[in-house]
Amino acid sequence: MHLSPFKLERFFAKYEFTARYLLCSSDCESLLVGDLLALEPGADEALQHHWLGYTESVGAPSLRQEIARIYTTVRPEQVLVHSGAQEAIFLFMHAALQPGDHVVVHWPCYQSLFEVAKSAGAEVTFWEARESNGWALDLDELKRLLKPNTRAVVVNTPHNPTGYLMPQSDFLELSRLTQEHGLLLFSDEVYRGLEYNPADRLPAACDVNESAVSLGVTSKTYGLAGLRIGWIATRNADIYNRMAMLKDYTTICNSAPSEFLAELALRHRDQIAGRNLQIIQSNLALLDDFFSRNADRFSWVRPKAGPIAFPHLLEGDVETFCNELVHESGVLLMPGSMYDHPGNHFRVGFARKNMPPALTQLDKFLGSTPI
Ligand SMILES: Cc1ncc(COP(=O)(O)O)c(C=O)c1O
Repeated sequence: MHLSPFKLERFFAKYEFTARYLLCSSDCESLLVGDLLALEPGADEALQHHWLGYTESVGAPSLRQEIARIYTTVRPEQVLVHSGAQEAIFLFMHAALQPGDHVVVHWPCYQSLFEVAKSAGAEVTFWEARESNGWALDLDELKRLLKPNTRAVVVNTPHNPTGYLMPQSDFLELSRLTQEHGLLLFSDEVYRGLEYNPADRLPAACDVNESAVSLGVTSKTYGLAGLRIGWIATRNADIYNRMAMLKDYTTICNSAPSEFLAELALRHRDQIAGRNLQIIQSNLALLDDFFSRNADRFSWVRPKAGPIAFPHLLEGDVETFCNELVHESGVLLMPGSMYDHPGNHFRVGFARKNMPPALTQLDKFLGSTPI
């Protein structure tokens, strides 16, 4: 198995714990353990008595029950808990794909969504989202990309890095198309729940398509990346069983305290996601102002969901720009080259409480003045 270095993770390894302002984080402002425990009377005491032995490989029954409530058709036994979304991506690709298979992947994207597919021996074709099209995916183009040996289609919406939220009619048509062609739909839904207008929320793929796999995690919408609790929800028993079998070779089971805290957090998921959406909305207003003041330097497609977007630096090289910015001002933006994207874009993240001072530093760097 060959895996190339994960560019985005290597980039973060260099700056994440040294740069003063992370203006490109893809998760929401986190919480303290104490904040979660304060959500329910008795939670503190219950954690003190939580058993630290091995947990059930598929995830604690009560946690799976709580996760299943996010969906409309999925039973707890159809939820498989993992160590982060990353483990689930790894296991899905190795469970679903083998040499000779072809897979179509929404691109640009979080690298593991195509890299792990390649490592399983599959041929990958990118289904490209283009800025000129508002980062939308073209379903007619997907039809042209399919081959007789296509086994799966991988999408991520709300999307990292563009913030693109697919319209419901497209999502349902995508689901129908994959069913018509007998393809697996792997739907990375780690930002689901962060729609600025709740009416725009898409149904989960696993609820509209009985062979599809929906990916979720506590890291993004809920800002609890340190728990490392992710999951898949699917009515596809074959894929579920294969992934569960592979998990015996990766993590066997999840961290017991993390499962406890994830379940507690998910019981209050609307409250936590609501708090994160408030941070996003107030930061977005500042970004709107920033981009309108700097329209000669940047263009951007305003997202409809999630904590990130992928603006375009109109002049100058984006890697040099990001490099100079972090070294001179301590503000970290992520150049699009970390996604192998050639378009002079960068990722901006706006779900952290310290975004306003980070933006002030960026303004100072650019020599522009906030109104
Ligand atoms: C679209 C997407 N999928 C999956 C992941 C992996 O999530 P986690 O770090 O919680 O495993 C990320 C993380 O950035 C992501 O952006």
